[in-house]
Amino acid sequence: MQFFISEIAHKIIGNIFTNIRIAAVDEKYKKEGEIDYAEFCTVYPTKVVFGKDMQKEAGKLVRELGVTKVFLVYGGGSVIRSGLLDEIKKSLDEEHIFYEEFGGVKPNPRLSFAREGVEKAIAFGAELILAVGGGSAIDTAKGIAIGAANPGTDIWEFWKNKKELKKALPVGTVLTISAAGSEMSNSAVLTDEETQDKSGIGSDLIRPKFAIMNPKLTYTLPKYQLTCGIVDIFMHTIERYFTPVHGNELTDEIAEGLMRTLIRNAAKAYENQEDYDAMSEIMWCGSISHNGITGLGRPKDFLCHKLGHQLGAKFDEAHGATLSAVWGSWARYVYHLDEARFANYGRKVWNIDEENDEKTAVAAIEKTEEFFRSLHMPTCLGDMKMGVQPDEVLKEMAGKATAGDTMKVGAFQKMGAKELYEIYKKANHR
Ligand code: NZQ
Ligand code: ZN
Repeated sequence: MQFFISEIAHKIIGNIFTNIRIAAVDEKYKKEGEIDYAEFCTVYPTKVVFGKDMQKEAGKLVRELGVTKVFLVYGGGSVIRSGLLDEIKKSLDEEHIFYEEFGGVKPNPRLSFAREGVEKAIAFGAELILAVGGGSAIDTAKGIAIGAANPGTDIWEFWKNKKELKKALPVGTVLTISAAGSEMSNSAVLTDEETQDKSGIGSDLIRPKFAIMNPKLTYTLPKYQLTCGIVDIFMHTIERYFTPVHGNELTDEIAEGLMRTLIRNAAKAYENQEDYDAMSEIMWCGSISHNGITGLGRPKDFLCHKLGHQLGAKFDEAHGATLSAVWGSWARYVYHLDEARFANYGRKVWNIDEENDEKTAVAAIEKTEEFFRSLHMPTCLGDMKMGVQPDEVLKEMAGKATAGDTMKVGAFQKMGAKELYEIYKKANHR
């Protein structure tokens, strides 16, 4: 697979789906309860450059944006060991672009490190922040892009909605792991390590200007990171699939097709991580799962992400694992609200057809957990290194996920701290 997608994105997708703000979906949903095909506004401004050796295009892509000073952000060293960072620097040199390096981003990226990057990027006079790595490097780059464009304002002020975000430096990405979807998403997630608060920000200002995707770069992933990534991609899709809005056929078909493609290719990639076609499908699934298209026209649920972020912040567990550990408990807690929807998922994604909706729904939940287990992903907290947790810890996390029980989270079923605690409790063991 090899392609450039910005033209397709703008001309086809952008023109079909137009005009009214996604916020209207939430508003209308609140007013009327269940709604049919919702209104939405969508745009995919990220230029995707996909295929073998595409990292060599980095310099040209930066040059096209009229930029001469780049702040290079990367993680704990995988891009040094693979030689990728040197290739990127060579490509920048060839286009006479100046750069400064900022390595050392950790998984579950820290706010304090992003703040440090902001200062350095400002001192350097960065014009574009280029992330080379996965979601953690990209989200740190997005944080730096926000901070460097707004000197004097702490980036957490934007995260916490105390300041409105009106500008950010452009971000570019060279992706090395198919997982978070940050290469095309409008969001960034950081953790304030002092308060153990892992939170996201969403703004089209931080959607990357370009994403370089060479599936071969993912061959060196540790197996655990590969499978955490697959789970995350699956979750970005399924957390947009289970919502109260019905009658949204094309969005459903895109999501179901993505999940089927991912399941098929996950097994192949697990067997052989150098299967280029399988790794390509997974990489493209990752971007599409989280750029918005799998949830157009309806509010996204993302409750399991809220539960997972608490586990990531408190125990520094890998993001994907925190999601597979809680999904089954969430699903069993809510499926009776809309058995037909769960049954539809079972029929379309897993080809299950039991004698009625309820049996099909339950079988679909079991099949999903089997899928996670086939990738050696946890399906309960006890399966993770953090282990089973006492009630007080579960309550504390449920409280944090709902801002001290002052807000409801989710969309399929909106929940407060009490319900989140019950899901955590179910998720302790399986
Ligand atoms: O740090 P290095 O040395 O690069 O190693 C990384 C890291 O240890 C390693 N790795 C990445 N590519 C590799 C590789 N090792 C060998 N070869 C390669 N090609 O993998 C480990 C994980 O990297 P990370 O960037 O943390 O992975 P991921 O892409 O899963 O990002 C996870 C973060 O993204 C957030 C998560 O919460 C988590 O903090 N998310 C961001 C989202 C967004 N911005 O839209 C949405 C997601 O739902 C998610 O919340
Ligand atoms: Zn995720």
